[in-house]
Amino acid sequence: MGGAVVLLETPVQLTTVHFMTGVLVFLLAFYMMRFDGERERPTFAFRGPAALFLSVIALVYSQSALGAYVRHLDAGLACPDFPTCLGKWIPPLLSGPVLAHFSHRTLGYLVLLTAMMLYLFVRRDPRQRGNRSLALTFLVLAAAQIGVGALVVLSGLYYLATALHLAVALGLLSILGYLWVNAARAERTTLSPPRS
Ligand code: HEM
Repeated sequence: MGGAVVLLETPVQLTTVHFMTGVLVFLLAFYMMRFDGERERPTFAFRGPAALFLSVIALVYSQSALGAYVRHLDAGLACPDFPTCLGKWIPPLLSGPVLAHFSHRTLGYLVLLTAMMLYLFVRRDPRQRGNRSLALTFLVLAAAQIGVGALVVLSGLYYLATALHLAVALGLLSILGYLWVNAARAERTTLSPPRS
């Protein structure tokens, strides 16, 4: 796919799919690290808290893919100001690059809101006691990511800021990965019959 990206002269859809595939490989490597088949056999869970954490992974993954789309569309400075966009809270011209950029920002705020709800859920459920510090880290990282996003814009896409923005996105996915792994393990313990 990388070869096709080069030969077709970086079409925006293909470069975005290339990015999404790369992040999927990252997530699969993370899964193989946690469930290596020797110390722990592979498992998958999509029930209860595990379903919640996996859905938030899907949300952050989609937000990251949208961010890559913004980048490859060269829409990183379509809204050159922050927190407003083109001087307004809702930009006057909601189409093309401005729409892509503004949607990425808005979804970013939704991720932060989700992180707050997730933290409250984990705090209130006694069975999630072991996940409290992970949920707090996720909340702090999500807030930091909004700040780094602002830095990306206000620095005029300075490369260290964009690199940090990508690193924090992968950090968010990893924290969610740990939350999901813990929930999947708990699910397996509940479902497996007691040993005689
Ligand atoms: C949880 C929230 C967010 C996540 C997970 C996220 C993630 C990402 C990712 C993965 C990229 C692509 C990076 C790359 O291809 O190297 C990106 C691009 C970008 N993000 Fe975010 N982002 C978030 C919030 C924000 C916010 C709130 C803003 C603006 C205030 C923002 C501004 C940008 C910009 C301008 C780009 C394009 C950078 C470029 O053109 O090089 N992001 N984002």
